[in-house]
Amino acid sequence: MTSQDTERALLRHHGDVDAAPGLVDFAVNVRMDRPPRWLRDRLAAALDRLGRYPSSAEDAAARAAVAARHGRGPDEVLVLNGAAEGFALLPALRPTLAAVVHPSFTEPEVALADAGVPVCRVPLAEDDGYLLHPELVPDEADLVVVGNPTNPTSVLHPAGALRRLARPGRVLVVDEAFIDAVPGECESLAGAADVPGLLVLRSLTKTWALPGLRAGYALGDPALLAGLGRHRPQWPVGSLVLEAVTACSEPAAVAESARLAERADAERADALLALAGVPGLLVLAEPRAPFLLLRVPDGERLRAALRGRGIAVRRADTFPGLGPDHLRVAARAPGQFGLLVDALRQELALEVGV
Ligand SMILES: Cc1ncc(COP(=O)(O)O)c(C=O)c1O
Repeated sequence: MTSQDTERALLRHHGDVDAAPGLVDFAVNVRMDRPPRWLRDRLAAALDRLGRYPSSAEDAAARAAVAARHGRGPDEVLVLNGAAEGFALLPALRPTLAAVVHPSFTEPEVALADAGVPVCRVPLAEDDGYLLHPELVPDEADLVVVGNPTNPTSVLHPAGALRRLARPGRVLVVDEAFIDAVPGECESLAGAADVPGLLVLRSLTKTWALPGLRAGYALGDPALLAGLGRHRPQWPVGSLVLEAVTACSEPAAVAESARLAERADAERADALLALAGVPGLLVLAEPRAPFLLLRVPDGERLRAALRGRGIAVRRADTFPGLGPDHLRVAARAPGQFGLLVDALRQELALEVGV
């Protein structure tokens, strides 16, 4: 393996690898272990449609539901096989220089680099809480990717700072895969039809426990979406994906998502309080997503020790800009999060000698 292959393999590392079967999972940020009953029922009912190719009516229904949810037009919606497909399609826009704000989810960089697009990393700094400084993005970048809230820092950037990144001739990709876990979806640009070149990517994976389905969508100007989808095959998404996107965009689901976001917020506040007494551990930045970025002494040893206790956390050294002492943990309900806190307290007490 060349060093480039090794780097690519590390960029392709995700929490699902850390969360080996049998471990209590704080590595993956999916909220539940399966989709809610009403959604499973909708998907089960849609199985009867699998004897036909996905129809334009199913696609139109999904796009209409998403459009109504975000106050956009149906032609401003492109249904995707997860937000990850949106990243894989970015090279079709033929960018000449992509700027990726880091630390952040690494799939956009991999997709662009694999396609031969020059990628420049824009590093944010721990000492100012990973705040976004739009002026750090090179002027010549004609594609910019930023996550909001960002995985793994959990930072929610102000919509105003994101808007400052937009300009004619540039595509601004805002990865909002986690914004449905932020109460009020504040700082979302999903409804912003006035920002030039804006492409918002959304995911159904986390809130609705659907990682195995691959469901998400893009919002943007119809010409931009046409460019993005240029090389997609006929019937690019299946009927079950279309059904899930329709179902999760309907008012009852959006209301449930809002309630889940409030709960996620409360669980994160509890998790922060519980971690406050753990010796030697720092929670970085101001977390707003349902996960926390930690800095700990001797992170590799700690991760192995937690694993030995049956607990999986996400290694974070595979994110550009972070190292072995960074770990990402899902903020779960107090009953479950307590397991992690107890294990951290015991292991770190050994480490710092208290
Ligand atoms: C920040 C971020 N964006 C996008 C994705 C991919 O989402 P999807 O499952 O919809 O492809 C992930 C998955 O972990 C993620 O963490």
